[in-house]
Amino acid sequence: MMTDEARRRTVPSEYAQYAALDELLHLQWPRTKAPAELSFLITTQVMELYFKLLEHEWTAACAKLDADDVRGALVDLRRGHGVQDALIASWEALRTLTPAEFDEFREAFGAASGIQSELYRELEQALGVPSPSHPDAPSLERSAAGLLQRRGFDGWLAVYRAADHNPDLFDLGEALYDAAERFTRWKQRHLMAVWRSMGEKTGSAGTSGAEWLARGVHQKYLAELWNVRTEAWVA
Ligand code: HEM
Repeated sequence: MMTDEARRRTVPSEYAQYAALDELLHLQWPRTKAPAELSFLITTQVMELYFKLLEHEWTAACAKLDADDVRGALVDLRRGHGVQDALIASWEALRTLTPAEFDEFREAFGAASGIQSELYRELEQALGVPSPSHPDAPSLERSAAGLLQRRGFDGWLAVYRAADHNPDLFDLGEALYDAAERFTRWKQRHLMAVWRSMGEKTGSAGTSGAEWLARGVHQKYLAELWNVRTEAWVA
């Protein structure tokens, strides 16, 4: 295996230059020598990168919705679903972290917590959670509501009642459920990782930890869409 020093001495290939590998592979700075810390750190970085990509896809989807291009928005949303699936699967790298392994480096990152993730808050905002710190960030909820209004619908219930005549809007609604559901599935996997690696201990940001996260799992994103499910569908 090549040492860091040897890797630095070689002329970077076109591949290494394109992917900025020299920078990328030197951004991992574990705070301890605990063997398990690298998987924690890299998984965090990988997830932040996927958050960035997901925001990119959702921003593109919002622009298409604002331009009444439902087909185009569906393409972006489906690409986003793929990113979300990769995000959910990324928990595999942390699944086996034991409390003993976690405790070896937990103190070292102090009060750092994913709760401070800006990108995560922006994604939540896109799914309809108000965020005073990012009032102008793209919002799937707002862009979809604008489109529905321009097409003469006062909300998702009206679209679902007339689904046969508006297949594109029905497909859009289902694609938005797929995004909201995947977001919650990521939170469920996070909760399982927390239970397994630190039980019911308090979080580094000072929340009650798993108990606080478990409440968050019940939060419904794109809430108006979910209300449609509660309506009576047989006359
Ligand atoms: C086993 C590893 C992990 C544990 C034990 C853990 C623990 C926690 C805890 C206890 C909280 C609640 C806030 C607090 O008091 O700190 C939290 C929040 C959060 N964590 Fe993690 N975390 C882990 C891995 C990750 C990773 C890899 C990410 C990826 C970026 C992440 C992102 C988040 C986010 C976004 C929140 C806020 C969730 C919300 O507001 O609904 N966590 N984490």
